[in-house]
Amino acid sequence: MYFGVDYYPEHWVYPYAGTPEHPEARWERDIALMVSAGVNVVRMGEFAWGLYEREEAKYDFEWMRRAMDLFGKARIKVVLGTPTAAPPIWLAQKHPEILPIDERGMRRHEGTRRAYCLNSDVYWEYSQKIVRALANALGKHPQLVAWQIDNGLGGHGTEASFNDETRRDWHAWLKAKYETIGRLNDLMGTRFWAQLFTSFEQVPMPRIAPTLHNPALLIDWMRFCSDTLVAYARMQANLLHELTPDIPVTQNLRALTRDFDHFDMAETMDFVSLDSNAAIRSKSGELASEIDMMRSLKKTNIKTPDGDCGFWVIEQKAGHVHWQEVNSAVRPGVIRLFTYQLISRGASGVFYFLWRQPRIGSEQFYGGVLTHDGRGENRAYLEIKQIGQELKQLAPALKDTKVVAQACILFSHENDWDFKFNPRLNKHFDLREHIQLFYNALHDRNILIDFARPTEDLSKYKIVFAPSLHLLAGGEADLLKLYVQNGGTLVATCNTGLVDEYHIAPDSGFPHDLTDLFGLEVLEFDPLPPGEENHLMIKGQFATTALHPAKLWCDIIEAKGCQILATYAKDFYAGRPAMTMNNYGDGKAIYIGTVSHQPFYHDLVVWLRQLVGLFPLLKVPDTVEVSMRQKDNRKIYFLLNHQHSPVRISFFKPMHDFLTGEKVSGNLDLPPHGVLVLDEQS
Ligand code: GAL
Repeated sequence: MYFGVDYYPEHWVYPYAGTPEHPEARWERDIALMVSAGVNVVRMGEFAWGLYEREEAKYDFEWMRRAMDLFGKARIKVVLGTPTAAPPIWLAQKHPEILPIDERGMRRHEGTRRAYCLNSDVYWEYSQKIVRALANALGKHPQLVAWQIDNGLGGHGTEASFNDETRRDWHAWLKAKYETIGRLNDLMGTRFWAQLFTSFEQVPMPRIAPTLHNPALLIDWMRFCSDTLVAYARMQANLLHELTPDIPVTQNLRALTRDFDHFDMAETMDFVSLDSNAAIRSKSGELASEIDMMRSLKKTNIKTPDGDCGFWVIEQKAGHVHWQEVNSAVRPGVIRLFTYQLISRGASGVFYFLWRQPRIGSEQFYGGVLTHDGRGENRAYLEIKQIGQELKQLAPALKDTKVVAQACILFSHENDWDFKFNPRLNKHFDLREHIQLFYNALHDRNILIDFARPTEDLSKYKIVFAPSLHLLAGGEADLLKLYVQNGGTLVATCNTGLVDEYHIAPDSGFPHDLTDLFGLEVLEFDPLPPGEENHLMIKGQFATTALHPAKLWCDIIEAKGCQILATYAKDFYAGRPAMTMNNYGDGKAIYIGTVSHQPFYHDLVVWLRQLVGLFPLLKVPDTVEVSMRQKDNRKIYFLLNHQHSPVRISFFKPMHDFLTGEKVSGNLDLPPHGVLVLDEQS
């Protein structure tokens, strides 16, 4: 198993470390401390372009080679970043046209990372040159095990730029999609406000305007920007595959904070890596859902350096960040807890960001494995050293094990963009929060979850949740029907099927193309402001533990053959269905026309568990997070205590503790932030 750190050798040379005679002398001390912490891999170089090429075409990769050679002596492997995330100053000054222009027409200037427009031919050419030079110089180095492309593509709001070259590519993209301008006018609905185009060249980029842009145009723009980012990554991946065919390629993604299609992006990589948000989120369910989402981006054709499946966490926080309002110290045991959470959900490599708190630059006071003093006596270092020792012990058991989920939540970026950027009936309805209600309920009952886009093969899942697929393509609707037809159970919610892939609303009833699947039609929507509530009157088989509200959005439904599971309690639609179930082919389609509070979703999952035969992994107190990795019949359980107090766990059959090598049975008190890794071996 790869256990690593993100190292910036360029920060640790004279005058910040070393001596005038031996400017790189500190590197050996760093490597010794890494070895003693169990580190077997480092990621380096993702911002080093201006040092590799201080002047145009005058390359110097020797300093990096010296660092790699030293790592070689310590048997530590290396991941190299392609350095395109930070173009050198000389490039931006020679070719200012590569700098991105924002929606107001303002240029975003040089002097930081990410100052480039991805539609710039000049930037593509320079990127190809530096990637080629880097791969030729260091691609055959025996320590190299993987490439990371760029760093945080699309970060800092650089998914879109509004340069002239972008406009040219935008028009070409539209031409390829619509073929004729007449077709574009029809499908984009440009006769609204009579904004018809007579040529593709007339189609604007959605720059700042007096009021709202055409929603169909906006979604196309998002698709185009996403395709641009993906094409840029693919260009680098193809080049690296050509020059170093045996070295897998990855990228550091961040859980869905950037506006490009992460599923498309994952296709450009041999394996997915992520930057964990552990210092930002504190709720275990929120972190877990982000990890599951990232794991789900690439489910097949995974090629990691050691042949293991899964994904890497190429930046796991070693401490606090510096851009929250208050960046408190990360408490003892928390880095270990979050590391195990990542591993429990399928990570097969973990790197800490960053090795040492830098003495210079804008990330000076980020938490690091080492503090500024570099002595290796600090709390984070000692905690990470302990994790390193434990993982060495665990690695053989974890090899080739993976998370196998029986439940799945659907997510599509296009739908997410629609909620984010286009007008909506209730600004308080948040898609991500809505998804999280389902996720939390499953997570708290220890049910393993994948995410998927609606076009994936869903047949392996016992149950699929489709929260609010407001923008739903006709083809996606057909695939959902097929899933249910063949015996699947689908749970969809209000705000589903309001527009198709061209952002056209149906004239055949809501949810479009799915009224027969659910055996109902949604006649009206009643979005409610915060604080105003209706109530659910539950019928029959669905048992409840509390009175459940209907909040934020109430679909006014006409049943057309479905079974009614709950109705609304009041208002002019009192007695109308709020929750329904319909048999369709060999499966069941459940529709929940509203939003409730978290306890409703817990009750829902208890009921669904019986309906479809889903079993929790282990019976443990609610506050303990459980996950499982398996290979064939071998099952390894992870129990994580996210509380600040101990939790008592009762084992009804003896289990084997991988960290102590002992048997556990009867009662066990899991300490605050404690971790157990168990299997059922006798
Ligand atoms: C990452 C980025 C790093 C660093 C870090 C800070 O997304 O890749 O370079 O800036 O965020 O949290």
